[in-house]
Amino acid sequence: MAGTTRLQNFLMRGRRRRIEGRRVRWASLSKERAGGTPPYLDPARPVGERVEDLLGRMTLEEKVGQMSMPPAASAALKGLSAIFAPLLGTANERLLVPPLAATGTSRGATFLATAFPVAMARGASWDPDLERRVHAAIGREARAVGANVLLSPCINLLRHPGWGRAQETYGEDPCHLSRMAAAAVRGIQEEHVMAQPKHFALNSIERDRFHVDVLVGERTLREVYLPHFEAAVGEAGAASVMSAYNKVNGQYAGEHRHLLSEILKGEWGFDGFVMSDWIWGTRSTEDAANNGLDVEAPAPRFYGRRLIEAVKSGKVPVSRIDDSARRVLRKKIEFGLFERPPEIDLSTLCCEEHIALARESASKGMVLLKNDGGLLPLDGGKIGRIALLGRFAKKARLGDMGSSWMRGKGAASPLAGLARRAGGARIDCYAGRSARKAARLAEGADAVVVVASLTPRDEGEWLGSWLPLGGDRERLGLPEREVETIRAATAVSDRVVVVVQAGGAVTMSEWIDEARAVLLAWYPGKEGGRALADVLFGDVNPGGKLPFTIPRGDEQPYPLGAGRPSQEYGYFHGYRYFDKEGLDPLFPFGFGLSYTGYGYADLRLSAEKLPPGGKLEVSFELTNEGERAGEEIAQLYVSCRGSTVPRPVRELKGFLKTPLRPGETKRVGLELPVKDLAYYDEKERAWKVERRRYEVRVGPSSRDLPLAGEFEVVDG
Ligand code: BGC
Repeated sequence: MAGTTRLQNFLMRGRRRRIEGRRVRWASLSKERAGGTPPYLDPARPVGERVEDLLGRMTLEEKVGQMSMPPAASAALKGLSAIFAPLLGTANERLLVPPLAATGTSRGATFLATAFPVAMARGASWDPDLERRVHAAIGREARAVGANVLLSPCINLLRHPGWGRAQETYGEDPCHLSRMAAAAVRGIQEEHVMAQPKHFALNSIERDRFHVDVLVGERTLREVYLPHFEAAVGEAGAASVMSAYNKVNGQYAGEHRHLLSEILKGEWGFDGFVMSDWIWGTRSTEDAANNGLDVEAPAPRFYGRRLIEAVKSGKVPVSRIDDSARRVLRKKIEFGLFERPPEIDLSTLCCEEHIALARESASKGMVLLKNDGGLLPLDGGKIGRIALLGRFAKKARLGDMGSSWMRGKGAASPLAGLARRAGGARIDCYAGRSARKAARLAEGADAVVVVASLTPRDEGEWLGSWLPLGGDRERLGLPEREVETIRAATAVSDRVVVVVQAGGAVTMSEWIDEARAVLLAWYPGKEGGRALADVLFGDVNPGGKLPFTIPRGDEQPYPLGAGRPSQEYGYFHGYRYFDKEGLDPLFPFGFGLSYTGYGYADLRLSAEKLPPGGKLEVSFELTNEGERAGEEIAQLYVSCRGSTVPRPVRELKGFLKTPLRPGETKRVGLELPVKDLAYYDEKERAWKVERRRYEVRVGPSSRDLPLAGEFEVVDG
């Protein structure tokens, strides 16, 4: 069976037996009940009626049973096996309520499933439809191992380029993040698997994630850190949300009334359930339950028996228990868990279609940052010898080794990918330490490809100081060893292509002038080496663009601020901060080159004046001015001049990816709902659209916006 091992098969055998057992019991129970099926088991009845019928049959203990994952005794074992098979919880044998079965990450469904390029790579594709397809594939693989909840997508905004889990999210801008988040949720749920956008909210300093108190103003919270969660929930209908470990303004996110009850469930009308992040995500019994945490994961430490006692002693009202149980049951019914027991099918893991998608998404996410003199693409027919250098030239890099750790076996390394594509060219590959040997191979080569990578030691999920893995990057440069290899190569060759593998921004000022070409390949997943060859040889025209700003040096962004008990999150970060401070980044947000060139012309706005409830239609002409087909990501930014509140110089408000043949021109359009221009008024606790003039700019990156127009918002 493709992509599976004996261990996974063994674990799945147990799972299958249990599911079969449930089916047999179910069948015999249905016979016993010749008198009629209870309403909650009748799929023909409305969901609300089924939920209330079932809830009405449950004891307090059974309702509380819906509020935590498995009993503590088996949780540790199950937790361990969860990387191979989903973690089960909240079943009820008496009433035949199926369990939640949770698995996965934004990179793949289990340790042994298809390893897709990390989410940041897909963020760089600026392609929501591709993201929908990738997450549908991850959802399909999750379902194939018996899961019904996918612990994904991670949509925390990248506040600082050095965040250790940068690779798990999509970027630094809330508009871009919202489009990717909504697409991911839709993809997962298309497969009848519940999405669980995480970590709600403001989880973006890895080292301190379990205790840091994030201090944030209401306007910053609403405009910068929450819009993408609202998109995932309100627009895409996520079935559940994972709360974060950290505190927000003095209160743990897993028991935060304002976040969970007032905003998420109240204002946004979220009708799914909130599950805590694992182990340290639930911090109390009463506060968590009363303030809106529905399910404790991965085991009932504060819920379970303690929650039953809290209800009996009047500290938690029964209405809160009913509300949480109702939320879980509603999603179980809506997602067909009662009618459709899981069909385990390990042949779906790493199937051909998913492998092809892994390759497509890897190549579409790569960002070409520099290509002097058109060194790339390499001409397979003309190249005699390639020197392939770097510590990870022969080894695929899939990303960190935290909860989204994926098996590397069988993944295509840069060498494997290039060797397959290089035709008659000879490849001299050296992954050792000696700069002298690297230089010797680089000298005289027709092309020198240096693969420079970060590792799980440099960045990744932080699991504690006892493990030498993960954490944030205070220094944004490449490790010294990688820089030495680049220098050794550039000292003897002017045909050096540096391929950077990382999950976040890497500063390059110390070596970039000497390199002819730079390709940001991210951690490109199981098919990474082949996708790299696709781009280097021009079979795929790189079209990715940066989903964050790359600074010139560590001093440019404000410090990440790790190691402090509390950390203030201000209104400005990323390109908004760079623009406000007049800083010149190495590469701006939205930047990316291609093997062709694009022209922008003839901006047209549908109106000069619009009411606050209106919608502006923005159209313009895009031309592929080169000789290769490609896909251009056009970006639309808006500035509000003379605002009564501090505003970003410009804010991304829309983007569009358009395929264009050589020489082709297309008129393309984007819609800008005027409500998207609102700011959050802290005093009045309301969104406000200012009646002012707004400038619209369109172009290929946040710092290159050749088209400009204006319109005014007036009372309607
Ligand atoms: C992470 C979550 C993850 C969970 C289960 C936690 O430590 O923060 O993102 O889903 O573990 O693996």
